[in-house]
Amino acid sequence: MLATENKIDINDIIYPMFVKQGINGSEEISSMPGIFRFSLEALVDEIRELERLGIKKVLLFGIPDKKDWIGSYAQKDTSIVCEAVKAIKANISTVKIMTDICLCAYTTHGHCGIIQKGHDKIEKQETLESLALMALSHAKAGADYVAPSAMAAGQVMAIKKALEDNGFGETGIMGYSAKFASNFYGPFREAADSAPKFGNRSSYQLGVDQKEVALDKIKQDIEQGADIVMVKPALGYLDIIKEAKDQINVPLAVYNVSGEYSMVKQGVQSGFWKERDMVFEIMNSFKRAGADHVISYHAKDIAKWMER
Ligand code: PBG
Repeated sequence: MLATENKIDINDIIYPMFVKQGINGSEEISSMPGIFRFSLEALVDEIRELERLGIKKVLLFGIPDKKDWIGSYAQKDTSIVCEAVKAIKANISTVKIMTDICLCAYTTHGHCGIIQKGHDKIEKQETLESLALMALSHAKAGADYVAPSAMAAGQVMAIKKALEDNGFGETGIMGYSAKFASNFYGPFREAADSAPKFGNRSSYQLGVDQKEVALDKIKQDIEQGADIVMVKPALGYLDIIKEAKDQINVPLAVYNVSGEYSMVKQGVQSGFWKERDMVFEIMNSFKRAGADHVISYHAKDIAKWMER
């Protein structure tokens, strides 16, 4: 084994980014110091800078200016994410664009799929159709990968079929395969304005004790056609990462989520540790457990620290 296999490399890193409709410039997310919601123009400028720093992949989340009960703005060819993908592709060639496929930022109730009034159970068929249309619109705009995160059973298969039937079989799919119902998503929900207005996500996300189910979900996503599978969150789930890696042969991504990022930042602000040392220790623990890709809000800092 190469000595570097257990160390983070710039090529492993995926930077999650927020693009928001109807703002100028950028606004910092108060719970995630150093992370911003960008306007279209500001996003393109930022990705130019990331390209210069050597970042190879970004994962885009859209924040629309309109929401409705069924999240219909998510699937429009003119959605903020489609506009962003087109603008990036027109200006930047080396950074691959991955897009989040989920309804929670687009629905007035904040759940990840289509639900009936007052319930938090996802309506399977309607949700799958909607996610497939959303993914297809992003593929048409030029996304390199679509990344379904709604935890709707069968979402990878539904998206794969829609892409293939419409001539976008080349677009990759990164499944959020093992996504646990986690307390660590708190800051993200502020960032994306996507907190559920009632109920919670435990009817569709995994319980923290569900190790075997997590490994099954990962295998199911591979069978359904995922090119990359994921474990999320990352830090508390290194055992799942390790076991998954031992059992599969497609690339494995881990999501170093918002709460993990905010904890590090809080500790830095309090003077408990040095940011750079802490971030590399965490990143290398993901690599040691078996991560091929690490999705992290620390990406830009890591790229700067790695610059020679
Ligand atoms: C949307 C989604 C979530 C995250 C990524 N996609 C949040 C959630 O399920 O509430 C979390 C990312 C993070 O915490 O950084 N379904």
